[in-house]
Amino acid sequence: MRQHVNPLSKYFDEIEIIPHLNEIFEDSRLPLHVDIGSAAGDFLFDLASENTNWNYLGIEIREKLANHSKLRLKDFSMNNLYFAFGNANNIFSNPDYQFITNYMASISFNFPDPWFKKKHYKRRVIQPDLINFLSNSMKKGSLIFIKTDIKELFDFMHLIISNNVNFIKLDYKKFSPSESFNPNQIKTTREKYVISSKTYIFENIYIKI
Ligand SMILES: C[S@@+](CC[C@H](N)C(=O)[O-])C[C@H]1O[C@@H](n2cnc3c(N)ncnc32)[C@H](O)[C@@H]1O
Repeated sequence: MRQHVNPLSKYFDEIEIIPHLNEIFEDSRLPLHVDIGSAAGDFLFDLASENTNWNYLGIEIREKLANHSKLRLKDFSMNNLYFAFGNANNIFSNPDYQFITNYMASISFNFPDPWFKKKHYKRRVIQPDLINFLSNSMKKGSLIFIKTDIKELFDFMHLIISNNVNFIKLDYKKFSPSESFNPNQIKTTREKYVISSKTYIFENIYIKI
């Protein structure tokens, strides 16, 4: 399987239909967490089975991984989890999908693809347009979580988010994981690998004001 796909390819211009939340979750009034780059879905399967008082939506650009997550979901009777295939940037630039961000309590970008070459920075998922869209559509008090082991990418993402006046970095002392989408601090697949290789993890949380 290819490790990376070019998110700017025309292939991703067409967006999968994501039904309204009351069609995909048993109780659409539960707080919604969206994970961008949900890969094979392990992290969200763990979260959704432990925290039945939250709804989880994973968005993944690699079709095989998204389909794998969807097939796996059919084998479990979980009514607080949903996976969508597509480029998060295209999904969120489509006004039809504003309902997702309107309802969202939080969104995570865990170990996004780094795209190291400068000419490829535009393929990185966190871009000013995406953050502007989130800032215009997320509720006050909702949260953005970013995590990576690559300092240069962390600085890039931090600069874009903090340039938006509607987001401020949250003081970790004021953050209580128990009230978040991940109360038991479950690790993502990439995170487990990074921890095992003893590499430092950079992370921030931003709050919409
Ligand atoms: C390095 S992996 C990390 C996977 C997972 N978040 C983790 O921490 O284990 C990055 C994932 O983001 C996906 N991805 C990259 N760009 C994306 C985009 N624009 N929209 C949705 N998914 C994206 C990749 O296909 C890949 O599965």
